[in-house]
Formats: sequence, structure tokens, C-alpha cells
Amino acid sequence: MDSRQATPPLESDSSSSDREEEDCSTQPATPSTTTELTQLIHEHSSITLLKNFPPSSKQLINQQPSKSFDKHPDFIPPTNQLSLLRHSEFGFDPNELDFCWTSQFNPTTTTTTSNTENHSPEDAPYFTYLTTYWSYLLVFLIGHLRDAIGKRFSAKSHAHLKLHNGYAALNSDFDSFFTRRVKSRLDDCFGRPVTGSPARTITLLDRTSSDNCISFKYPHTTTQALNIASYNYLGFAQSRGSCADAAEITIHQLGLSSSGSRDDVGLSPLQIETEKLLARFLGVQDAMLVSQGFATNSTTLPALVGKGALVISDEYNHNSIRFGTRLSGAMVRTYRHNNMKDLERLLRESISQGQPRKLRAWSKIVVIVEGIYSMEGSIVDLPNLLRLKDKYKFYLYLDEAHSIGALGPNGRGACDYYGIDPSRVDLLMGTLTKSFGASGGYIAGSKKLIEHMRKTCHSAVYAESPSPPVMCQIRSTVKLIMGEDSPSSPCALDAQEGASLSEGKRRLRRLAFNARYLRAGLRKLGFIVIGDQDSPVVPLLVYQPGKMLLFSRLMLERYAIVVVIVGYPATSLVSGRVRFCVSAAHTKQDIDQVLIATNEIGEALGMKLDWGSKPSPRWSVERVINNASQLVAGSL
Ligand SMILES: Cc1ncc(COP(=O)(O)O)c(C=O)c1O
Repeated sequence: MDSRQATPPLESDSSSSDREEEDCSTQPATPSTTTELTQLIHEHSSITLLKNFPPSSKQLINQQPSKSFDKHPDFIPPTNQLSLLRHSEFGFDPNELDFCWTSQFNPTTTTTTSNTENHSPEDAPYFTYLTTYWSYLLVFLIGHLRDAIGKRFSAKSHAHLKLHNGYAALNSDFDSFFTRRVKSRLDDCFGRPVTGSPARTITLLDRTSSDNCISFKYPHTTTQALNIASYNYLGFAQSRGSCADAAEITIHQLGLSSSGSRDDVGLSPLQIETEKLLARFLGVQDAMLVSQGFATNSTTLPALVGKGALVISDEYNHNSIRFGTRLSGAMVRTYRHNNMKDLERLLRESISQGQPRKLRAWSKIVVIVEGIYSMEGSIVDLPNLLRLKDKYKFYLYLDEAHSIGALGPNGRGACDYYGIDPSRVDLLMGTLTKSFGASGGYIAGSKKLIEHMRKTCHSAVYAESPSPPVMCQIRSTVKLIMGEDSPSSPCALDAQEGASLSEGKRRLRRLAFNARYLRAGLRKLGFIVIGDQDSPVVPLLVYQPGKMLLFSRLMLERYAIVVVIVGYPATSLVSGRVRFCVSAAHTKQDIDQVLIATNEIGEALGMKLDWGSKPSPRWSVERVINNASQLVAGSL
């Protein structure tokens, strides 16, 4: 903390910010032709141009960050256990043995959003809602006023907003208005440019804006910050370590590209082996790799369902699922998030009525859910879903993008977490971008179904097979998680069992601890946190748009912690949030830091729950930190 407080704020370099002010007035418009570009280069000095654009990766290689989160980011102790090295990518925790947990559903002790009246956005006091609506109302009024004045007095630059020369307005909808007049004001907390691997820490390209985030300038300095924003659940997003080394060797042996789809000449022994390994890991008969996670959903679903079929989808399902079902031509109906009563009502209604206007039964019914919902932090209610499946005989498609590797004692996702046989789920889909630090996705299930996918899924037939180093990364990480590739070392949990844990298991235990600790700690501090106890996605509700921007900035400037802010349209307008994503790469100390920083900034911004006349159950941050293990065990 000391080193971070000593760190000057982002805009503290007064000489450089003065220069930025000057640069702003001469900021070039986006050049459209080569002649215009040449002209621009003559008009503006090369230094000015460079400062207005992010530095190239060439300029950044080997450049030390101007501000560092770690005092010794490159300290490497003499050990051959690469995952334990203390460096910025995977935090070395000397007390790792004390801070472990197993991610496992326990019907008597686990509290879930589906079995309790957990915190929900409605928990906020009316005053919070009032001020949130008021903030948006004010910004909307000013925005509409500016649009009206612009259309009247600056018709040319506002042509896209109104009828012109017989053409319809190009951007006249609410989303366009929201992006131009609201989101653009908050852009400093979105889309931060980064360099290096999105590991435990991340290096951000510093940027400044003197026109309320309409444009940014890059002073060519960087800040190393604690990264609690990436989906690096198991900490495998590393540019060093055994997996990265293996991927490097693969590039030397097999190159970077598969150069063809599996139906042409793109199917390698490496892909066949990786698919077999994935199927074994997931506990199913077969699996197929796809080179992109989004495309796994959007191209698998049209191969599974079509006209005459019914897809029943959770209201918060990911865009790739929505896109895939829309492409398929199947009828889509949605039910309330993770609400099994609403799903059953919809099932009964749909089955009894059949296809509209045809008086025919549905050709098939597929229910699509996610293992962990990345905006809500909730875990699918799989046991009750399977009860409904047995009763109503629908096919179940489970997207495990965020739950594979992140849930269950063996990291095998939602089925593993609940102790359910994975063959009860018809199709298991997952992405390899998150827990595995790789890229692409998979679809897994029975041999027959996967063979059908290999012949009909557009990604298998028309898209290139995954790149060899990516498949190598998938193989190495899956093997580590399965404990097939690494030396074991003792850990507190298994000390009692007289066994030893592999590196993969240690990562799983650390992630499970961090997830429960951060969520429980934030709740004890008085914040409104949604989602399930064991989910590594921890959304903290902020509500007001101004606070979203301030929270993100203050976390970075004061504590060198980078967070993700999520708002409309990914959430409803009034439930803007900070989404913390914990990782196995974080140490207990890192989570302590996040709690200290959030506590201080949340207090200053009035983000804590107002308990009204009831006695305050809030804890001090010291009490939270000193009782971490008990909080995780749920004994307090
Ligand atoms: C539930 C879900 N499915 C699919 C995807 C797409 O995966 P990818 O980002 O690997 O393309 C995502 C992305 O975050 C997701 O959250």
C-alpha cells in the first residue's frame, strides 16, 4: 500500500499535462486518404502526432512501467516450480497453505441466489434510485438540448441524426443517443488500452483527456496495476512459466497457423489429441474444438436447432447464444434469470400449446443456460434444472465459458460443483479464453452428437482450426488442472488427508478461497454485492453513473488497482456495477488490498448500504482481513 500511496496520480506530471493542453487544440481529424495523411504530417510535428496515438508495441517492449504495483516485479527465487515464482504474473503467497478452499456445493451450508433471498439490486435505498434516475435525467436533458441546438445550427455535422437529401437519419435511436451523450462522458472507465499479459498485474497505457473523454492523448508512459478485471480465473494468462514455454516450443515446431478447416487440410494430430484430452477432462465421450469462443455458440446452435424447434433461454444469456439462436430460425422464448418456477411455467405453456398457428408439437425443445453468469456472478441452479429436464424431456445446452476451470473441486465446471454426472447434460459448451489463458471454444457431449457437429457446424466445415500454440496451451493447462503434468507439493487441506496437491489443484483451491473471501468481505463492509458465494465473478452495485467513473479512476490513481465497470446496455440502466474477477494468481494480500481500497473509496462515494434504523452489521476492514478464513468457511 505504501508504495502505491507514494505513487503520484496519473495526471501529476504537470509539465507533460501542460503540453497535452497545447496538443489538444491541434489534434488532427482522422485522415481518410494518403494525401490527407501526408498533409497532416507536414502540418503537425511528428511528436504531436505520436502523442495523440497509443505507442506501438515496439516502443513498449522492455520499457519499465512509470508506476509499479509490485516493488520487485522481476524477483525470481531459486525454485523450479514456475507457478510459485514471485513475479507480477502469478503472486507468490508464503501463506498459501492457510488460504485454501474447495469449490463444492453443499446443500446445507451453501447459500445461492436461487435458494435464498440474496442481495438483489432492489436492496438499495430509495434515495439511491432517486439520485440515479436524477443523474440520468439531467444528462439526457442536456444531451437532447445539445442535439436540438446542433441540428438547428450545425446541420452539416448533425446530418446523421436527421433526414437529409431524402435519406433517413442514420443514427436516431436511443442506443446511439446513449453512446454519444452519456457513455462517451464515462469513456475513461471503459476500454483502457493495455500492454503485456492480462495476468495478476497488468500494464496500462497512461492516457489523459482534456475534453471530457471525447479524445485521449497518450504521454507514452505506462502504469503497472493489480488486475482484478480479467477472466484469468486460474492464473494461466501468463507470458512466462511452463505453459508459455511449451507454447513457444510448439511455434518453433509447428508454426502459428493451421491454415485450413478440419474438413480441408487443417486437422492435425495435435487437435485430435487435444480434443480427446478435453473429453476426458470433462468426463464425456467426445469434444470438438472451435477456434473462437463466440463462434462456438453462434455456429453450433444453428447446427442443433432450426425451424419448428423451440429454444428456451435464460434472460441473461450471452450475446453469442442469442445470435446463434437467431441465426438458427428456431422460435426463442426467455424465462426469468435462474428462476426454475418461471422456466417450468414456460415449459408447460409451450408444450401444451405447441407451434403457433400450426397445431403441431415442437420438433424439439432445447433449454440454454450458462454455468456462471458473467454480469450477475450467479451460478446456474443445475440440480433443479435437471429435475425439470427429466420431467419435461427437453435437451439441455450448458455454456460453461465462465464456469469451466472456475467451479468444482476438479475445475470441471457446474456438474463437478454440484457432483452431477456430466452425461446428464446433452451439450457442454465452453470457451478456452478464460480459465485456460488460451483462445477458442469447445463443444462436448455424446460421440453421436459431436460427430454430427463435426459434419454440420459451420466452424468445423468453413473456419480454420485453432492455431498450434493455442492448442498446446490448452493441453498444458488441462493437464496441469488434471494433475497429470506437475510435481506435487504439500498443502494444508490435504495435509489432513495425508496426500499432496498438484499445481492445478493448488490453483483451484486458491481461486475458491479468493472468490469467497472477496464477496464475503465486501458484504461485511456494507456493500451491495450480488451473485453466488462460490462464483469468482463478484459484481458490486454502484448505480450512479458519476460514481462508476470516479470509482474506477480512484482505484487506479490511489491504489494502482484496475477494475471493470459494467453499465447499460450490458445491465439495466440503473444497476451499473463494478465487476471484480478474482484469480488464482491473486494472493490473500492482493484481495486485502482490494478490500482496503474499495472500503475507503466506497465510503467516500457513499456506496455502502444504508441500514436505516437497524443496528449496523458493518465490519471494519481490519476485522474482515483478520477473519478471512472464518469468513470463507461461513462460520461468521
Ligand atoms: C457465456 C459466454 N459465452 C461465450 C462467450 C464468448 O467467448 P469468447 O470471448 O471466448 O469468444 C462469452 C464471452 O465472454 C461468454 O461470457
